[in-house]
Amino acid sequence: NLGTLNIPVIVHVIYNNANENISAQQIDSQIAVLNEDFRATNGDVSQVPSEFAGLVADSNINFSLSQVIRVASTRTSWGTNDAMKYASNGGSDAVTPNAALNIWVCNIGGGILGYAQFPGGNSNTDGVVVSPQYFGTTGFVSSPFDGGRTATHEVGHWLNLRHIWGDGRCRQDDFVADTPSSDAPNYGCPSYPTVNCRSNDMTMNYMDYVNDDCMYMFSQGQKERMRALFASGGPRATFVN
Ligand code: ARG
Ligand code: ZN
Ligand code: CA
Repeated sequence: NLGTLNIPVIVHVIYNNANENISAQQIDSQIAVLNEDFRATNGDVSQVPSEFAGLVADSNINFSLSQVIRVASTRTSWGTNDAMKYASNGGSDAVTPNAALNIWVCNIGGGILGYAQFPGGNSNTDGVVVSPQYFGTTGFVSSPFDGGRTATHEVGHWLNLRHIWGDGRCRQDDFVADTPSSDAPNYGCPSYPTVNCRSNDMTMNYMDYVNDDCMYMFSQGQKERMRALFASGGPRATFVN
């Protein structure tokens, strides 16, 4: 048992206009949501239906803002090819990726809210990217993705979680036993129960595609999968002193 895992966070704000140069308050609002969601202290966790209430997990992972780096850019959108992660491209280089979570906040474009790198990849590109209007809960934010849950979802990927439908049909696994099988993402704000693959979907899981207000839990199995990364020899063991 590793106890509370503390993850220092480096936020790179790469902006083309004043809106994208998000405030310290907006950044703080996102860190607060990460801490609530990964500790299951989010207020909306009480909405989890009784079928899944016993599976709600406090992942015991804490995030602390370590540094904010601001870079002005002439670029109006960045795509998903990691260009923003290199100063040589006008972006910003990762800082101590073996001991900190790097989050790049820049306009991805194409309607993409965020994307993440799974553990075990190139350390220069390790971290998550979120477009500014989907980051945090105050300031330059855009409903229905103004609840800070895009970063929660992307950090879930950074901690090795797959989408709950396994990105495939019913038998395609997300490698987590307690998330029921599903065959596709859910969107919007699904009512309970939503039945797919002969079971009720855990639509309120952060690793589905629903609106921010409609996702409010990680499961115990997801917690175990995330925390396994930090064990001795694991791909994120370098985060543990
Ligand atoms: N589509 C993105 C991904 O797969 C993020 C989805 C975030 N959903 C949300 N409600 N904020 O990584
Ligand atoms: Zn995703
Ligand atoms: Ca599952």
